Amino acid sequence: MKIGIFDSGAGGLSVVKSLLEHNLFDEIIYYGDTARVPYGTKDKNTIIRYSLEALEFFNNFDIDLLITACNTVSAYALEEMNTQSNYPVLGVINAGVLAVENSHLAKDDSILIIATRATITSKRYEHELEALGYNNIIALQTGLFVPLVEEGVFDGEILEATMRHYFSSIKEPKAIILGCTHFPMIKEALHNYFDNKPLLIHSGEAIVEYLETRYRLKEREQKAELKIFASDNVAGLRKIADAWL
Ligand code: DGL
Repeated sequence: MKIGIFDSGAGGLSVVKSLLEHNLFDEIIYYGDTARVPYGTKDKNTIIRYSLEALEFFNNFDIDLLITACNTVSAYALEEMNTQSNYPVLGVINAGVLAVENSHLAKDDSILIIATRATITSKRYEHELEALGYNNIIALQTGLFVPLVEEGVFDGEILEATMRHYFSSIKEPKAIILGCTHFPMIKEALHNYFDNKPLLIHSGEAIVEYLETRYRLKEREQKAELKIFASDNVAGLRKIADAWL
C-alpha cells in the first residue's frame, strides 16, 4: 500500500514518525508545501486552493490513500480534496476526536485545544467533541509555537515565555489536543508546564489508532520506504527529516 502525506511544511514529519514506528504501509510519499508555509494564518479559500494544488503533485504517484497531516488543511479542505481525487483523503481531526473518545476522559473533563488561528476559527474540533457530549472545552490559538518549532526551539526560555503568554490564565486541563503538526515536538515542554498531568492527544498517534481501528490496517514486516518532496528548500526539509526521524 502506497500512501501520500501532505503538510504545509515540515511539521507533518511528526505524523510520518508515528506511521514509521507502526509500519502500516509499504511506501510513504511526503509532500511539504514549504514555499507557502504557514497555512494556519491564511483564510479558508487560500487554504482550499493550496490543498487542491497539492493534489496535482500527488497525481504523479499512484497512491492508494492520502493523509493530510496538517490540522489546518484537515479543518477546511477535506471535502473538496475528496471530491477531486480518486483515492480517499483522510484528515487528522477525526482521528484526534476518536483518540479522545477512546481515552478515559469524562464528558465534563476539561479539554484544551491548541492550534493555529485557522484551525481554531474553523471550530472543527469543538463541534465534533461537543456532538459527542464533551462540554468543558477551551480552544486557544497558539500560532507562535509554529515558528519556534521551525527554528528548532523545543525547550528553554523563549518557549517558557511563550507558554506563559498563552497559558497564564488557563487552569490545568485534563487533556490537551495538540491540534497542529508542530506541537508534538514540544510535547515534553507542554507536559512539564502543566506538571506532567494532562493527557496529550497527538495527531500522529491518533491517526495510527484511527487506521488500525477503522481501516483494520496491521503492522508489516518490511520497513516502509519514505520519499520526501517539497515545493521549496528540499535540502532543508530533508535535514529536518534526518533530525526528527
Ligand atoms: N501544519 C499546520 C497545522 O497542523 C501548522 C503549520 C502551518 O500553519 O502551516 O495546522
